[in-house]
Amino acid sequence: MKHLIVANWKMSPNDPKRARDIFDIVKGAVAKLRSVQIIIAPPSIFLQSLASKYKGNKISLCAQNISSSEDIANTGSLSAVQVANSGGRYVMIGHSEVGDTLDNLRVKTFLTVKHGMIPIIFIGESERDKLGKYLKNIKLQINTALKELQTKEVENVIFCYEPIWAIGQDDPMDSYDIHATVLYIRKVLIEVYGDKIGQNINILYGGSVNSNNIKDILSIDDVNGVVTGRVSTDTEEFVELLKIANRT
Ligand code: PGA
Repeated sequence: MKHLIVANWKMSPNDPKRARDIFDIVKGAVAKLRSVQIIIAPPSIFLQSLASKYKGNKISLCAQNISSSEDIANTGSLSAVQVANSGGRYVMIGHSEVGDTLDNLRVKTFLTVKHGMIPIIFIGESERDKLGKYLKNIKLQINTALKELQTKEVENVIFCYEPIWAIGQDDPMDSYDIHATVLYIRKVLIEVYGDKIGQNINILYGGSVNSNNIKDILSIDDVNGVVTGRVSTDTEEFVELLKIANRT
């Protein structure tokens, strides 16, 4: 199985030329790497130009967010169909910096699949409590997001477990805790969709992933890849991370 690496560029870089340069550097690096699959989520203004210039299959383009509405009366928004028609194959849904409601997870997941793309659904807690109530909330996020999908559509969905408190830190969450939570997510999926589908859904980890910790994170059973934030546009660091991921 290839490791999925989702590069969330957030609101960087500042200009289209730099966006293309970063893309080209990543493209050059992944050409030699057989065990990683890259999904780049640039700011949406760069998505179409990056997608249109790339003919390979090692990198796919992803939107960081879409509107929860298909009504054109949504000034400043971006629709699922616009992303699909501009070369986007994936959509990030529910990243904590977007501020989505629980119900937005359901609608945006549905619209993404409706337009033939794959949703990357972000789930995770803002804080942990000793009684494990946050797990109940993770279960609710999963079940709400998948509510409108047919069973056969669920198979392709990707989840990213990204505890909000672990974003933008020096270190990621402890490996043992990542494993425990990802196992819980897997169990919830198997309970509802059965073994075959539940075992096959890709579950990623996000939150302060870098070249120093990528090996440990990808070595955790049941973690199928990662989402990187800040390091995604630091080409030297990101290429190093890809090389390590490829060897893991
Ligand atoms: P980070 O961001 O890697 O900079 O912590 C992750 C994210 O926001 O998805």
